[in-house]
This record gives sequence, structure tokens and C-alpha cells, in this order.
Amino acid sequence: MIKFVATTTASLALLLTALFTTTAAQAQDAAKLAQEKACMACHQIDKKVVGPSFKEIAARYAGQKDAEAKLAKKVREGGSGVWGQVPMPPNTTVTEKDALALVKWILAQK
Ligand code: HEC
Repeated sequence: MIKFVATTTASLALLLTALFTTTAAQAQDAAKLAQEKACMACHQIDKKVVGPSFKEIAARYAGQKDAEAKLAKKVREGGSGVWGQVPMPPNTTVTEKDALALVKWILAQK
């Protein structure tokens, strides 16, 4: 019994470590992607530049479950009128998968 508990605790710890490492790695990838795709030329994490800050975006769409798909589409196609008159140009080099990864990362900013 004691041995069982010890093993379970150990595997749980291992599982948790694995889980945290993946999440951290994914966040890092998305941050790098945002640099590579020049999102950071107009956006910052916590301050408005040309476009809204990623924290503002996360706050605005918190709890909206269709936000991810909607925003991923907007990232690729561009658009205006949500945050002001300045348009976001289409980001044509961003794949659908990358757009979704970026949006998930943006919406996770707090
Ligand atoms: C040339 C400047 C520029 C670049 C480059 C840019 N954005 Fe934007 N972004 C904007 C502006 C301006 C807005 C506000 C548009 C509006 O009011 O509808 C915006 C809005 C957004 C929104 C919120 C959209 C909404 O409807 O609420 C997201 C998400 C976003 N950008 C992500 C990205 C990502 C990811 C990239 C990189 C692939 C990127 N942006 C590159 C200027 C830019």
C-alpha cells in the first residue's frame, strides 16, 4: 500500500512536470511566432501601440467561447472597427494553425 502510494505520487509528479513543461514550451513558441510574424510591430503584451495590447484583447474576450475561431480568422484576414478606425492589415503568411496558436496565447495573457 505504501509502495503503491509512493509510486502514484511519483507518477503524478512526473505527469505534472510534463504538463507544465509542454504549456511553457507552447507559450514560448507562440511568443516567438508573434515576433517572427511581426505582430509585435503593432502589438505589445501590456501596452497599446498601433493595435490594442494583448492583455486588453484577453480581457475583452474572456469567457467567450467562439472568440478563438473568430479572432484567428481576423488575424489572417485583417479588419477594423472593433478597437478604433485603425485597421489591422491581413497577415497572409500566418497559417490557420499558427493563427489559432497565437490567439490562444494572446487570450491567455492576464
Ligand atoms: C500593422 C499593424 C498590425 C500588425 C502587424 C498586427 N496587428 Fe493585430 N491589430 C492591429 C490593429 C490596428 C487592431 C485593431 C483592429 C480593430 O479595431 O478592429 C488589431 C487587432 C488585433 C486583434 C483583436 C481583433 C478584434 O477583433 O478584437 C488580435 C487578436 C490581433 N490584432 C492579433 C494580431 C496578431 C496575432 C498579429 C501577427 C500575426 C497581428 N495582430 C499583427 C494592428 C496590427
